[in-house]
Order: sequence, then structure tokens, then C-alpha cells
Amino acid sequence: MLHAQQEKVIYDEADVPKFTLPDPLVAADGTKIESAQTWNEIRRPELLKLFEKDVYGKSPAAPDKLSFEVIETSDDALAGKARRRQVAIRLTDDPEGPVLNLLVYLPKTDQPVPTFMTLNFFGNASIQDDPAIQLPKSWLRNSTEKGVDDHKPTEKLRGASTSRWPVEMIVENGYGLATAYYGDIDPDFDDKFQNGIHPYFYEDGQTQPKPDQWGSIAAWAWGMSRALDYLQQDKEIDGSKVIAMGHSRLGKTALWAGATDPRFAAVISNNSGCGGAALSRRRFGESVKRINTSFPHWFCDNFTKYNHNEDACPVDQHELIALVAPRPCLVCSAEEDRWADPHGEFLSAHYASPVYELLGVEGLAIDEMPKVDQPVLSRLGYVVRPGKHDVLASDWQRYMQFADAHVMKKAE
Ligand code: GCU
Repeated sequence: MLHAQQEKVIYDEADVPKFTLPDPLVAADGTKIESAQTWNEIRRPELLKLFEKDVYGKSPAAPDKLSFEVIETSDDALAGKARRRQVAIRLTDDPEGPVLNLLVYLPKTDQPVPTFMTLNFFGNASIQDDPAIQLPKSWLRNSTEKGVDDHKPTEKLRGASTSRWPVEMIVENGYGLATAYYGDIDPDFDDKFQNGIHPYFYEDGQTQPKPDQWGSIAAWAWGMSRALDYLQQDKEIDGSKVIAMGHSRLGKTALWAGATDPRFAAVISNNSGCGGAALSRRRFGESVKRINTSFPHWFCDNFTKYNHNEDACPVDQHELIALVAPRPCLVCSAEEDRWADPHGEFLSAHYASPVYELLGVEGLAIDEMPKVDQPVLSRLGYVVRPGKHDVLASDWQRYMQFADAHVMKKAE
């Protein structure tokens, strides 16, 4: 038997296996879902449970009380163009426990602003070269390019990821940006869940999550919800207009955050691929077996049942997008990012569309995969741009166009 890493990766449509997708509008007992009421009362909760049990794992409920501490503010950030806030969100009661450090940029206005909430890969200091931003304290992946040595930041980390974070453009367009380092919630390596947030929720004697309990993606999504807990009580932010956005593994995370937490007003997933927007049954690019082998901590253990066995999984990823309905959702692909299967990402949006329509809102406005750079910014939207797996300033322009149409101007 070939090891996952040696297996041929499917990069040709002709090699995609034939498959039948589960119908989001047919309940497990065969009942057809024909009204918003039965979707909300029967099918939506059923799908959510299936994704929890078989894909991401179930996360604990929100803590009763979270403590927030505003640790730094400036009304003169970005050369006077923005306000900056840094907030420590203590995720547990333990004073030594994990702290999610939130960095917030706001346009200078007296109105509460719609805000993008997105986790980052290398700490808040990496998004902007500004000595006032705290360096991350949690474990970091070593990177000479980003200035991480021995899993700790060096001064070189400051601003090392600015190309992905056009903060000035975001605030000039009237949006806030809230970001936090995903490793503050759970460091991204397989340590059998000994560090990060998981141990704080173990029952007596438990040493790792059960097969249907949260993996790292679910933990990161849970952390996004804790950031939203803070944002919703901050008067400078319009808590009803917080958009969950994420790239790649954090795009998977943004989708799961939007599915599990209806307080997110919209979701934007960028190049999220396998376990994100891409249909698992296609096995194109990264497969379930590959992802579970390379990143055993991302999903719950039950997900490994579907290694080379995707057809047995009771859900596929179009139903994850359906869980965001009727809220706006934009799926973004990059043409050269074949590992993330752009066509599979498009098809997920396509097959989620009937749920949007059942709920009385616009679904995906096209039936065929669009050409590159022909964004379809319907309420359920899809865009494939030329180029590689990355987040570009031009991608953010799209996100804001989408948010202008579907979030900014939404009726109060
Ligand atoms: C790897 C992984 C993808 C993931 C990506 C990322 O390529 O296989 O599933 O999306 O890393 O997060 O950058």
C-alpha cells in the first residue's frame, strides 16, 4: 500500500472519481426540506451535528464570562489615519491560561464600523511594521523569511506579512480590521493536544479530545467567536457587521466559525481548499487522506474514517457553505492553486445555492465556473483570480466590494 505522501495527486478532471453528493435539502431520514422552517428546525441542526461529529469535532460552549483588557490604544495610528487598539482576551479562568491578543484598526469616525475579523499566521506584529504592536508570545513556526528563530519572534518579524494586510486601504474604505494570532488559541503542530486551549476543557482523567471532539481548526474557529464576543461589546464596532475572513487553513477556520456562530454577518474564505470550500469527494489536489496524514491535529479523529472513503462521509463541503446561509458568503480561489481545487471550491458554492434560494435570498448568480477575474459577487459569491495561493491587496478590494454590497448596506 502506498503511503499518503507517495500517492498520485489528482490534477486532471478526467481522473476525478464519479460521485454523488449528499443533498443539503434532504434530511437523514429522507424527508425533503421544502421550507425555511424545516431547514432551520431539522436540517440545519442535523448538518451541524454531522460536521461536528465527523469532520471538525465539537467545541465547548462559550465561557460564561470572558475577561477583556484593553492594553494599548492610539488615536494616531497609520500616520494619523486610523485608531489602533490592542486587547487581551483571557480564554479561561486560569491566570496562566491562553490569552488571545486582538489587534484592531479602526477608521476615524464616530460611527460603529463594520469589521473584518481574521486570524493571522505569524502574530499581530507581522501584519504591520509598528513598534507599538506586541510581539507574539505563543509558539511560532520557525521561518528565516518571517524572522522566527527557535519558535520565538525576532524584530525582523515586524511587518513581515504586510503584503497580505493592506490595513490603510481597509480603514480608508470605512472598515475596521480585527486580527489575532491563531497560535494564541492552539499552536499549529501535532502535540496530541497537550498545549493550547484543549486541556482546559478535558474532563477528569482525559488527556486528549475524544474522536468527535474539537481538533485545531474547531479550536481556532472557537477563538474567532471569542474575539467576536469582545467585538460585539466594543462601542466603536458594529457588532452586527463582523465578517469572518480567512486564508487557507484559516479559510477553513473562517467557514467553520461562520457555520457554528450565526453572529458572524458574513464569511469570506480565501483558497481554503480541502476541508474548507472544496468538495472532498472530488479528491482533486489535496485529499482527505493527505490532509489527515500531514495535519493529524486539524480535524477530529472521526474524519480519518473517510480517508480514501469520502463517499461514506454523511456530509460534503457544499453543506458547510449551506450552514452559512442565508448570510453572505464569498468563496475565493486562485487559478494556480490547484492543490486547493478551484473547481471543487466553485462546485461547493454551486451546490449550496439551493439552500440560499429556499431561504428566500439570492444564491450563486451563475451555473458555470467563471473565467479568471470575472468575480461573481452575488450574495453567495465566487471568484477565481490568476496567480498563486496567497492573499493580495487586490483580493481585499474584492472582499470590500462584496462587503459593500451585502454587509455595509444591509438594512439595519
Ligand atoms: C497546506 C495544506 C492546506 C492548507 C495550506 C495552508 O498546503 O495542505 O490544506 O490550506 O497548507 O494553510 O497554507
